[in-house]
Amino acid sequence: MGTAKPLTGHPGFPALPSFPTPLRRFPRLTEHTMADAVVLEGAESTSDLLHLMPPLAAAGPTVRYVYGGLERILLNEPDEIRQVVSDPRREFPALGVLQRVLGQGLLAADDLDIWAPHRSVIQRGFSPRQVTAYAQRIEAVTRRLVESWSPGRQVSVRDEMSEWSLDNVGDSVFGDDFTTFRDAIRDQFRRTIHQTLAAMADIEAGTPKPGAEERLEQTISELEETVRHIVGRRQNGIVSARGLIDGMIEASQDGDPRYADPFIRDEVITMMFAGYDTLAVTASLSLFLLYTHPPVLKRVRSEAAEARATGIPVERYMKDLPYIRAVIHETLRLYPSIPFYHRPALEDRRIDGEWVKKGTILTASAWVTQRNPDYFPDPLTFDPDRWSTERRAAVVRNSYFPFGQGVRNCVGTHFSMLALAIVVAEVASTVNLIFEDEQPAVQANPTMHVANAMMATVGH
Ligand code: HEM
Repeated sequence: MGTAKPLTGHPGFPALPSFPTPLRRFPRLTEHTMADAVVLEGAESTSDLLHLMPPLAAAGPTVRYVYGGLERILLNEPDEIRQVVSDPRREFPALGVLQRVLGQGLLAADDLDIWAPHRSVIQRGFSPRQVTAYAQRIEAVTRRLVESWSPGRQVSVRDEMSEWSLDNVGDSVFGDDFTTFRDAIRDQFRRTIHQTLAAMADIEAGTPKPGAEERLEQTISELEETVRHIVGRRQNGIVSARGLIDGMIEASQDGDPRYADPFIRDEVITMMFAGYDTLAVTASLSLFLLYTHPPVLKRVRSEAAEARATGIPVERYMKDLPYIRAVIHETLRLYPSIPFYHRPALEDRRIDGEWVKKGTILTASAWVTQRNPDYFPDPLTFDPDRWSTERRAAVVRNSYFPFGQGVRNCVGTHFSMLALAIVVAEVASTVNLIFEDEQPAVQANPTMHVANAMMATVGH
């Protein structure tokens, strides 16, 4: 790796603050540092990285930078990125705190002998037959929500989509028990997710707060109590609408040690943790982009109307409504819910022709890569037609990865895409939304979050 090239400016969204001199040359840090690095000045949180990282894409295939007191390497080549993102092993500084909450649940599992059997049970819970049942329930949740949006009402699309996501993910995880325990589940999960992500972001930034993990304990114990209660009820009672939890209970009842305690606890908490915010933020940004691009809205409405007229069942919306699918892909390109992966190299390895020592943090970023003009021309333009059959073939392999890559990709991908297709089709065909702000104020904490309420007035 040679000396980093001078950085060219990144157009950036107007809402993103500009930092006067974000970058300065940084000398070699260790004997293993082969090139100059750049320090990201003003980067105190992962959110700041959203604004500061995109220019680094222009600096070369690999760029050394310093953040959180650690020297890291940003990877800009899709094939190198794939190697990091698709590695099933888990080891990173904030893993300890994540495991305190999720145990060996899928997202946090570092023991692959535990992860593999768990993953197969969860995957069965997302089988096409199961997802068809979820689709009908997602449609009902979406209709109820849209019916409550009377003309003239002002709604926070961010908060409404958070409730919508909670209802859909909660329903898919807990089945019909979700309705009974909705308030407890919502409050306990919100607190747990918030506290855990904050602790992870602090660790990532090199500023862990003393006692943060201990404070989590109280919140987790309430959550565990709720989960235990629901499992107990379902073990003994009648189940009318199944959730993922029922597949877990069945697996554990065979006496197979791989599904012994705390399997159900870990996976139930994991599914809510992994699904709730990611789906909510993507849904609210999809609606925002849709309603701020009238020509796109017009085409979505026409496709949704055609689907209704020809009686396409909602469970086929993802497959059979290509334009709506493209709108969602384009939203996820601009706003991937997991914008950064910071993974230590698990062995000494060669990258871009140079040796990188084990432990060096490698950054792979969907946010940076999916906004890189080398891979997505005119990257800041919301252009769903990039995903048309003709143009999609030109997308560089491995340059788009909002659901991760490899065997540990998102287990909820199909469910999420379907839920998003349903909400986009339903909302677009029923109401008009006039958004107040010109841009969503996105943050990464470390997952994507929208700081403004995304207020909109409902029209016909
Ligand atoms: C738009 C919505 C979503 C996005 C963009 C998203 C994104 C991702 C990404 C990028 C990963 C890989 C993380 C990594 O490699 O470290 C992941 C993993 C995961 N996601 Fe999602 N996700 C979404 C919704 C959901 C939903 C709704 C669920 C469950 C109901 C879910 C459950 C999971 C689980 C359990 C994993 C860990 C998989 C494993 O390691 O085997 N996700 N997700």
